[in-house]
Amino acid sequence: MDVKGSKFIVTGGASGMGRHFTLALARDGADVAFCDMNEDGIRAVEAEGKDLPGKVVGFVCNVADEKQVEKLVADAAAALGGLNGIVNNAGIIRDGLLIKVDKETGAVGKLSLQKWQQVIDVNLTGVFLGAREYAAWAVANKGGPGVIVSISSISRHGNMGQSNYSAAKAGIVAMTKLWGGELARYGIRTGAVAPGFTQTPILDGMPPAMLEKMVQPVPLKRTGQPEEMYKAVKFIIENDYFTGRCLDVDGGLVL
Ligand SMILES: NC(=O)c1ccc[n+]([C@@H]2O[C@H](COP(=O)([O-])OP(=O)(O)OC[C@H]3O[C@@H](n4cnc5c(N)ncnc54)[C@H](O)[C@@H]3O)[C@@H](O)[C@H]2O)c1
Repeated sequence: MDVKGSKFIVTGGASGMGRHFTLALARDGADVAFCDMNEDGIRAVEAEGKDLPGKVVGFVCNVADEKQVEKLVADAAAALGGLNGIVNNAGIIRDGLLIKVDKETGAVGKLSLQKWQQVIDVNLTGVFLGAREYAAWAVANKGGPGVIVSISSISRHGNMGQSNYSAAKAGIVAMTKLWGGELARYGIRTGAVAPGFTQTPILDGMPPAMLEKMVQPVPLKRTGQPEEMYKAVKFIIENDYFTGRCLDVDGGLVL
């Protein structure tokens, strides 16, 4: 499938990688309906995208809410006149160790169920809902061929302090594999991208010394750029013999 002339939903499109994917897809000639919960951010990205070759239309949507995702897919298809896929990018972090012992009192702190659930809701359930609603729309509307791209993370291998995030990001890769099998008969392919440390607002606010320590074990000795992640997203969209797999784009880092 060519990106040029295609129609995609991008979730979490008001910031970081999702913003970049939205604008880069439109730069390359795709029409894009992106969603986020940050309304000001949505309007800003719409303004940035207004002179690009492809359309850029923003919607407010919480990807963890079933009804809102059902509406997003219907609204996006209506606004763009069809859909060729979705990029499930929206994600959050609520880090914490499984248990933490206070050095002075010996009290045992626990990773809260709330932090666990918030990350599972957005990063795992959000991807499930986005993929399910897009696939259901595509089959009901004979909208194929289609592609579901989901953003995992290097943390999928298990990163200390990220029980919730690692579980969700590993789950994305498992679902991507099984959806590749389940959805091929409908002309829908799947793929995941697992970025390493990538230069987005999360890292922009980090003290330089901390950032330096973080990239030290990365063989390529730097963070990734959103455009480098976009190249992986574009590869998955455009390579018609790719499905069910995850591309690791992490500078060679092993956790
Ligand atoms: N930046 C990195 O180093 C890195 C590395 C690996 C994976 N990732 C993954 O890449 C994706 C993008 O990360 P980023 O660094 O660009 O983050 P970011 O915080 O800059 O952007 C995430 C966007 O998602 C939106 N969002 C959050 N919850 C949402 C919800 N429930 N519904 C809709 N939108 C929601 C936010 O408002 C924000 O605009 C995430 O899935 C993240 O886990 C990031």
